[in-house]
Amino acid sequence: MRVLVVTQPWTIRPATAGDAAFLESMLVETVNWLPDRHWSRDRVMADPNLAHYVEGWPRPTDLGVIAVDDTDQPVGAAWLRVFDATDPGYGFVGTDAPELGIAVTTAWRGKGIGRALLRAIHEQARRTGIATISLSVERANPAMRLYTSAGYRTVAGGPNSDTMTLDLQSHRSAKQ
Ligand SMILES: CC(C)(COP(=O)(O)OP(=O)(O)OC[C@H]1O[C@@H](n2cnc3c(N)ncnc32)[C@H](O)[C@@H]1OP(=O)(O)O)[C@@H](O)C(=O)NCCC(=O)NCCS
Repeated sequence: MRVLVVTQPWTIRPATAGDAAFLESMLVETVNWLPDRHWSRDRVMADPNLAHYVEGWPRPTDLGVIAVDDTDQPVGAAWLRVFDATDPGYGFVGTDAPELGIAVTTAWRGKGIGRALLRAIHEQARRTGIATISLSVERANPAMRLYTSAGYRTVAGGPNSDTMTLDLQSHRSAKQ
């Protein structure tokens, strides 16, 4: 019998303080998900409503995972940050529901890394006792399909974006 072993040229590890600059790059990718949007890193980091997703990384309550290729170069990240009502993220639902950021570098998209990052950050969050994760996503972003298939549900909406949450304790979908 022939056995086909498929190995992936990437792995996922916990994020560290040394990943701060890469997380900034991934934040820029989340802004520039639209092919014709080209915000510079400086422009993103000059906007306090965006910069606060990564500035000061890592805060004590931050969680994160990094996908690295077979040369240890980072190619994607998912991270969670707790916000409060005085400085809420776009997807803020409460101080007990950290907000998700996720991005994969362009060349590595569509290979299952985003879904694997999501699964890994969910596992980290569960181990930490987090019950709910929230996120904000522009409604036209195909990332919504990933979130929906992982169990996130829309709980609020603006003109162009939705706030989605995942109940981590009760939800374990097959695709998660
Ligand atoms: C969203 C993102 C992290 C997904 O990562 P990825 O490695 O490409 O995703 P995967 O290969 O694991 O695919 C998972 C699912 O994503 C969905 N998806 C996400 N982006 C997609 C796109 N541009 N086109 C088609 N499907 C997409 C698909 O439904 C796919 O499901 P499937 O496996 O059942 O086909 C990545 O596309 C990205 O970095 N996008 C730009 C940044 C961004 O939009 N971040 C989210 C902001 S809210």
